Amino acid sequence: MSETKMVDKSSKSYQAWLSYSQLNDKYLNKFNDLLNKISLFGSSAITGSIREELDRAFSRFLDTDFTFKISPDAEDEIIFAAQSDLEAIAAADDQMQELLKEINFEDLNTEGYILKYFQENNLLLVTAKTDKGFLYGTFALLKEIQQENNLKELDILSNPKNNLRMLNHWDNLDGSIERGYAGQSIFYQDNNLRNDLKRIKDYARMLASIGINALSINNVNVSYEETRLIDDKIEMVITISDILRDYGITTYLSANYASPMQLSNLDTADPLAEKVKLWWQEKVAEIYEAIPDFGGFVVKADSEGRPGPFTYNRTHADGANMMAEALEPYGGLLIWRCFVYNCQQDWRDKETDRARAAYDNFKGLDGEFKDNVLLQIKNGPMDFQVREPVTPLFGVMPETNQVLELQVTQEYTGQQKDLCYLIPQWKKITDFDTYAQGESTPVKRIVDGSTYNQENTGFAAVVNVGDDENWTGHHLAQANFYGYGRLAWNPDLSAVEITEEWIKMTFGQDQKVMESLLRMLLYSWTIYEDYTSPLGIGWMVNPGHHYGVNVNGYEYSRWGTYHRADHQGIGVDRSVATGTGYAGQYFEENAKKYETAENCPDELLLFFHHVHYTYELDSGKTVIQHIYDSHFRGVAAVKELQGYWEKLEGKVDEGIYKNVEERLEMQLENAIEWRDQVNTYFHRISGIEDEFEREIY
Ligand code: GCU
Repeated sequence: MSETKMVDKSSKSYQAWLSYSQLNDKYLNKFNDLLNKISLFGSSAITGSIREELDRAFSRFLDTDFTFKISPDAEDEIIFAAQSDLEAIAAADDQMQELLKEINFEDLNTEGYILKYFQENNLLLVTAKTDKGFLYGTFALLKEIQQENNLKELDILSNPKNNLRMLNHWDNLDGSIERGYAGQSIFYQDNNLRNDLKRIKDYARMLASIGINALSINNVNVSYEETRLIDDKIEMVITISDILRDYGITTYLSANYASPMQLSNLDTADPLAEKVKLWWQEKVAEIYEAIPDFGGFVVKADSEGRPGPFTYNRTHADGANMMAEALEPYGGLLIWRCFVYNCQQDWRDKETDRARAAYDNFKGLDGEFKDNVLLQIKNGPMDFQVREPVTPLFGVMPETNQVLELQVTQEYTGQQKDLCYLIPQWKKITDFDTYAQGESTPVKRIVDGSTYNQENTGFAAVVNVGDDENWTGHHLAQANFYGYGRLAWNPDLSAVEITEEWIKMTFGQDQKVMESLLRMLLYSWTIYEDYTSPLGIGWMVNPGHHYGVNVNGYEYSRWGTYHRADHQGIGVDRSVATGTGYAGQYFEENAKKYETAENCPDELLLFFHHVHYTYELDSGKTVIQHIYDSHFRGVAAVKELQGYWEKLEGKVDEGIYKNVEERLEMQLENAIEWRDQVNTYFHRISGIEDEFEREIY
C-alpha cells in the first residue's frame, strides 16, 4: 500500500477559490437585507449540491449559523429557483407573475443562467432553465459576493459559449499521473479507488464553480489495468460518476482502441470487422446499463505507440466511426485525438516534418466523420511548447466537429515549480485569426461551433491537479485551472478580467496583493519564454521528463523535434519555397505571413525559418543578441517576481506564502541554469560576442 498524504481540508490552500471568507462590515451592512434572507427551491440531486454550497458559503460569509427561509415572499430577499419552480410560485403569487414577465428565459440556453435584481421589490433572483444552469448561476452569485460586487446592480444573463467544456485526466490506476506535478491521483491508488471520496466531491465543486461539464478520468495512454475500466472495473467509474453527476459533470473514459483484443481475446481490432463492431456495441450497451448518462470515449489511436486503425490499413474515420456508432443510440460522444505523427523519425531526414502531421493525417477526412465524432486538436502543431504557432488544422475541416486541446498541466512550461500563467498564451491561441471564412474567423469561433454551425464542439484540456494539499503543487498554478474553466465558458473574457477575478476570489480585496499578483501572473509566461525558448524554437529540454535545460536533448532523437543549430545559424525551414512546406498549410493570409523570414513575426521566426545568428529581427537586434538578452532578462525578471512576492508576506496566508516562496527559489535556480547553458552553447558555436560583455562561460 502506498502512503496517503495528510491533507488539511480546512486550509486556505485546499479551499482554493472557494474559501468564502467572512464579508466585511461595510458590505454586510449595505446588503444585509438581502443576504440574511435566502429562499431555495428544488429537490433534485443538483439542487442538493446547491443547498450544501449555499449553506457552506453563507455561514462563512456571515460568520454565523445559516438557515434558509421556508417560504418566499418576493420582497427583500434572494431567491434561488429554476424556471419551473418560479412558475409554480407565480401561479399562486401575482407579484411573482409580474416579475417573471421581465425575465428573458427565451435567451437562455440549457446551461445558461440569470442573476437579476428587482429594485422595487428589493429582490434578487438566481434562475435558469435547467438544474445545471441553476448550479452555474449559484456559483456565479457566490462569485459576485466573494468579490464584494454590488448586488443591487446585478442584471446578468450568461450562456456558455462552448457546449463541451472538458478536462482530461492523465491519471493511471496505480495512482501515478502522466505529466502530473502535484502529487498522486485524487482518484486512484494501487489499482483501486482511493478512500477519500470527499476529496472527489470537493474537486467536483471546484469544477462546477468554473463551469466544467465533462471529465475524462483516466490517462489517454490506456494501459492494461485502465482498459479494464470498461469491464470488470466499471464499479470504480460508477462511483466517480455518481459524485460528478450531482455537480453537472458528465463522466468520460479514455478507451484503448484495442480493447476487444485485451478484454475478449479477439484476434483483431479492425474497425471494419463485424465482430469488432459487435463487440463495441455490446460493451457500450453494458456501460450505459451501469451509467445511463455516460459521456463517451476519448481515444488516442496510432499515436506514440498506441494501437489504432492504421494497423489494418483503415483510416481514422473508419476507426472513430465504428466506436461512435456504438455510442450513438445513447447520445454518447466519441472524442478522437489528432495527435498523430511519426515518432520514429531519423534526425538526418530533413524532409519529414512532425509539424505537418495533424493536417496531413486528418484534413483529407473532412466530411467522413459521424456527427457524434469530435476531433480533439492540440493548440499547436508540435506539443504544448512555450511558444508555437496555432495548428493549421483549425478551420480547414468545415464538416467536422473540432475541439481545442490545451495543456493546463505545465509539462513544458515549468512543471508547477516555475510560475507560468497560461491564460495570456491561451488568449493568443483562441483569438488567432485562421481566415477560414475571410478575416475574423478566430479559433474560438471555430471551436464554439458558430463558424460551421456545429453543436459538438468546444474546449478540452489536460488538467494540473493531484493530491497535494493545494491541488496544483504551486499554489499560483490554481490560477491556470481556474482560468481555463472561465475561458472555456467565455473565451471573450480578457486575461486581466479572469486574473483579477481569481486573485479576489483567492486572496480577497487587498490592493497590494492585487497589484503584485497581477504583475507576477500576467508577465510570467513571457518571462518563462525569455529564459527557455527564444523566437519559437522550443524543445531544448531534458528528454523524458522535460524539466530543465538540455540544448541538444532532442537534437539527435527520433521525435521530430529539432533546432538544427550549427555554427552559422539556427531554426527549421518550414517554408514552401525551400523548406518542409508546413507554412503552406495555413489559409493564404497566414501562409504568406509565415512563408518568409521578413514577414514572419519575431516570436515564431525560428519555428519557420533557419537564419544566420546575425539576422536582424524586427526588434532591431540580431538573433544571437536576442538570445543573450532574453536569457539575461529572464533571470532578472525571476528576481523581480521574488521581489513582488516578498512584499506580500503577512498579507497572504502563511502556508501559501511559503509554498510560493520556495517555488520561486527553485525557479531562479532553473532560470540561471537555462541562461548559462543556452548562452554558453550559442556563444561557443557562433563565436559571436555579447555586445554588453556579460558573463558567458
Ligand atoms: C506529450 C506528452 C505525453 C503524452 C502525449 C499526448 O507527448 O509528453 O506524455 O502522452 O503528449 O498528448 O498524448
